[in-house]
Amino acid sequence: MQKSELSEHTRNILGLKLPTDPRWVNLAEISLEDILTDHAYCEQKAAITCISLIQKNPEKDLLVEELSPIVTEEWGHFRMVLSELKKRGLKLGRQRKDIYVNKLLEFQIKGGSPTERFLDQMLIMALIEARSCERFKRLSEGMDDEYMRKFYRKFMESEAGHYTLFITLAEHYIDKTVVRNRWQQWLNYEKDLMNSTEVRGDRIH
Ligand SMILES: [Fe+2]
Ligand SMILES: [Fe+2]
Repeated sequence: MQKSELSEHTRNILGLKLPTDPRWVNLAEISLEDILTDHAYCEQKAAITCISLIQKNPEKDLLVEELSPIVTEEWGHFRMVLSELKKRGLKLGRQRKDIYVNKLLEFQIKGGSPTERFLDQMLIMALIEARSCERFKRLSEGMDDEYMRKFYRKFMESEAGHYTLFITLAEHYIDKTVVRNRWQQWLNYEKDLMNSTEVRGDRIH
């Protein structure tokens, strides 16, 4: 599914409500091993979640068709980050507790209908992709090292396509007004979450 297939309105509702604190780029740049390690696991989790969405929704043909290549792409991203670590003589560290994602999961509908739960799963993915895209954009613009700026530009472009895909898939299976209303609630929740979370350079989020 190409970005050009999205309606103007769909593109306009995607905007995150709070830009990243500009200090974050400088902090990230000085802890490259940590940020690349965290980034590697973000890519890995994206691949795992897409596999899990396919396993839970085999009857949704479009979802299976669209998410299958994303699994490959996210795993490719993981490998790109891995080889970047290796090239620099840096080590893939251990996975850390993902505060951002855990806080997002707290906002999921508890005990809702299967449709409500599905919608939240799609919107959480859209949100993580959107925020990752925004963070990669910051890195691609603000890092001192030109090579790293280009490195992050490639990720930014991929993740931009992903976050629109999750919204579009949600709208394929669920009434658009319902999707958009819930998306606005998620954006507001994420803004408060970003506002109340410590800025740290060893994490993508
Ligand atoms: Fe990715
Ligand atoms: Fe992605």
